Amino acid sequence: MKQTSFTPFTIILLTLLILSLLVSLGLVLYRYRSTTVLLEYARQQISAQALTIRTLEQDLLQAKENINALMGALTEEQHRMFVFDEQIKAITGVVGTLDKLSKTDPELLKKYSKVYFLNENYAPATLAALDAAYLYPEDTPEYIHSQALPFLRDLLQSAHGNGVELRIISAYRSFDEQISIKSGYKFIYGAGTANQFSADQGYSEHQLGTTIDFTTPETGTLSSGFKKTPAYTWLLDHAHEYGFVLSYPEKNTYYTFEPWHWRFVGVALAIELHAKNIHFYDMDQRDIDAYLISIFDPNKN
Ligand code: DAL
Ligand code: ZN
Repeated sequence: MKQTSFTPFTIILLTLLILSLLVSLGLVLYRYRSTTVLLEYARQQISAQALTIRTLEQDLLQAKENINALMGALTEEQHRMFVFDEQIKAITGVVGTLDKLSKTDPELLKKYSKVYFLNENYAPATLAALDAAYLYPEDTPEYIHSQALPFLRDLLQSAHGNGVELRIISAYRSFDEQISIKSGYKFIYGAGTANQFSADQGYSEHQLGTTIDFTTPETGTLSSGFKKTPAYTWLLDHAHEYGFVLSYPEKNTYYTFEPWHWRFVGVALAIELHAKNIHFYDMDQRDIDAYLISIFDPNKN
């Protein structure tokens, strides 16, 4: 049997090979160990960061809840402020309305004409002279309640713009002037006839300072002929836009038909009467009184 024998060279070579294998194995083991340590370190880092993220998420959630709670409180506070503001506005409105009402003469919307009585001392708060150009005759001064004047001016200018010339024969009349006028009529026509077209002192709408007797430059007098003029037709169509209404239409229960006699009752009431096709004296006094607060308010249309 042939025996295997290694030459010294072979032995050295094998030894070197084995050593190199051992070194390689050592290196691999070292690398493996280092990588394992690094991986473990990285894992710990990741789990630490995951913990931090969870904590942050919880903080964020808590912050959101806090914000929601604050928003709720803010909304509640805003609502309370809104309600408070509305209450203040309502109170201010009521106070303003009462103040305005207390400064508005309640006589201005009462029914006179044999219904209510104005005492001899009653006079409008303030009177203003009418523009002479609109008077008939021009040299007899006439006066009107100063707060009704702008409405009358607008009416006259608007009529003029529509080719209609209106003139004023009579406006404010004091208690004493009414006595004098009525006495004259009674003297000429007798009391029975005079009572059909002239009010007793204290019962004339003219004492309010808000009533106008119109004519035209051609008509020149207070006559039933005025009803046939374009001026009367224009007044029927437009006077309400300026707050004026016809007090004594045909077949009224107080006086004969007076197409010339127009009373200022405020735009809102005049428009309401016109829309319903009824007259001032047809309306209940309580319903009329509701318009007192706005009697001098401008036309909002
Ligand atoms: N002509 C009316 C009725 C007045 O005198 O007031
Ligand atoms: Zn009149």
